[in-house]
Amino acid sequence: MELFDVYPLYNVTPVKAEGVYVWDENDTKYLDFYGGHGVISIGHSHPDYVKSLSEQLTKIGFYSNSIVNPLQQELAHKLGKLSGCENYNLFLCNSGAEANENALKMASFETGKSRIISFKNAFHGRTSAAVAVTDNASINAPLNLRQAVTFLPLNDIELVIREIGKGDVAAVIIEGIQGVGGLDEGTTEFFQEVQKECNENNVLLILDEVQSGYGRSGKFFAFQHHHIQPDMITTAKGMGNGFPVGGVLIADKIKAKYGRLGTTFGGNHLACAAGIAVLDVMEKEKLTENVNEVYGYFLQETKTVPKIKKVKGKGLMLGVEFDFEVGDLRKKLIFDQHIFTGGSNNKNLLRILPPLNTKKEHVDIFINALKEILG
Ligand SMILES: Cc1ncc(COP(=O)(O)O)c(C=O)c1O
Repeated sequence: MELFDVYPLYNVTPVKAEGVYVWDENDTKYLDFYGGHGVISIGHSHPDYVKSLSEQLTKIGFYSNSIVNPLQQELAHKLGKLSGCENYNLFLCNSGAEANENALKMASFETGKSRIISFKNAFHGRTSAAVAVTDNASINAPLNLRQAVTFLPLNDIELVIREIGKGDVAAVIIEGIQGVGGLDEGTTEFFQEVQKECNENNVLLILDEVQSGYGRSGKFFAFQHHHIQPDMITTAKGMGNGFPVGGVLIADKIKAKYGRLGTTFGGNHLACAAGIAVLDVMEKEKLTENVNEVYGYFLQETKTVPKIKKVKGKGLMLGVEFDFEVGDLRKKLIFDQHIFTGGSNNKNLLRILPPLNTKKEHVDIFINALKEILG
């Protein structure tokens, strides 16, 4: 059997990783400024993480969600405390798409309505409702297009008010900072007005923090830059540092009912061990503080590269924009300079999502590589 060929591949085979570096089978060392799509939060193969997962595996790796698993409670307590979201309850699942799928479903259950407002260039995942609220027709099958979704431009509050006014909207879903779309984001005024419109019209506000959450923006969740309290917050990527785990933080006012949500694998013992280790390391190593420090340095140093037009995003969720397409630049960064970066819907933009323990010296390596390539 061959693999179902859906991924265009770079011809690199990582076999080992540590901190902010990965090595291929020829022992070539790469600086990881992409974190495998923003997944690596506390750094590759962090010793505390390896210990915690290995020890858990020798005890119990998995049992079902119909037994007591105290690790789930521990993860929920730690997440509530570290994120400042103690007045939410946690539903555990396996991925970002699944987190959004469950949040959208809960919004529809709760409000009795079904239309969703999403935004231009949004990416929320590839399952049924999650892909329907993703602004990319080419990854929506006819089946997905049956969902009622309205895409609006970011930061146009009048259009949001008009659509909500029609009375059939269950939820507004929005990324803290757009990832795949190219690092655009709502203004504080926009986030606050959307929240107000939602509150006044029985519409739930879902903040997709799958990519922008877990300290990446310099706050635990990116929406915290805007002083709002969403009804649901979805998370995945950095939550498990590579172990598949996702979650929906659900505001206290939304009551749980047996059977409404469920999953076989979500919140299993290994996933919880990974999630707890990530939070412990984030706290112990003050990674969010580090993100803010390195962000300041990144902004300062990118000013020394004249061909950079703009730096978008916040913290270590950044887009470096040029006035040319960056496909060739990304290839040169990987194959000549041995640095991983990412792309986005904006073809002129390098997406930078390094581990949260990246240091200034790693920024220097990236900046020098850019200077060498761009001349
Ligand atoms: C903002 C956002 N939401 C949802 C997803 C989907 O997550 P997953 O690939 O874990 O299903 C992604 C993945 O890139 C994402 O960036």
